[in-house]
Amino acid sequence: MKKTIEEHAARFSEIASEYDESQNSEEYRACVSLVVHYADPTPDDVVLDLGTGTGAIALALAPDAKRVIGRDISEGMLEQARTKAAEVGIENIEFGVGRFRDPNVPDGEHIDVVVSNFAMHHLSDEEKREAIRVVADLEPKRFVLGDVMFFGEPNPDEPFYSPEVDDPSTVGVLADALTDAGFVLTAVESVHEQVGVLVAERAQSTEE
Ligand SMILES: C[S@@+](CC[C@H](N)C(=O)[O-])C[C@H]1O[C@@H](n2cnc3c(N)ncnc32)[C@H](O)[C@@H]1O
Repeated sequence: MKKTIEEHAARFSEIASEYDESQNSEEYRACVSLVVHYADPTPDDVVLDLGTGTGAIALALAPDAKRVIGRDISEGMLEQARTKAAEVGIENIEFGVGRFRDPNVPDGEHIDVVVSNFAMHHLSDEEKREAIRVVADLEPKRFVLGDVMFFGEPNPDEPFYSPEVDDPSTVGVLADALTDAGFVLTAVESVHEQVGVLVAERAQSTEE
């Protein structure tokens, strides 16, 4: 991680009120659509959105899910997300503080689908591995990860990658981390040379 959690939280809280307007790239929108499409919750599913920000993914999934839990480190971003939920009258959603390493899932809550969009690239490779293990321990049936990731060579001159704040991984590193944690990769979508969506399903044990 190139900045501390506190620095990332403060940076996002500072830009929270303008964040939605600033996310106008075709690739960001494509990523949101793909993450929502692949998450595909049923009305019985509880969804966890990690690095939920202002709730773009969480709010889109709530009408189809039983409940959505949005977690982020930035109170400013969470406040925007809560305001948006209230404005559109979505009630089966809860936004609160939580991080990849400790998502703060309410006791006794089983998570069916985990999603994360444009958030995990702030972690180092090893921290992403740890975060993916934390997700796997929640035993969701599916984990959909949209993010900045390298399909080719890292290129800071291309959009979506600012080396001073971002730490994206290669698709290979992410795929290995997901399979090592017991997931099977069922889809890989390249939205841009440096942006993609990975869909991981929990491998069925032969004893199940
Ligand atoms: C670029 S925004 C993406 C927000 C949202 N998922 C979207 O698609 O618009 C990244 C978010 O990740 C959050 N974040 C960064 N590091 C995090 C961590 N370790 N745990 C949880 N959230 C984190 C930031 O606070 C920020 O709200």
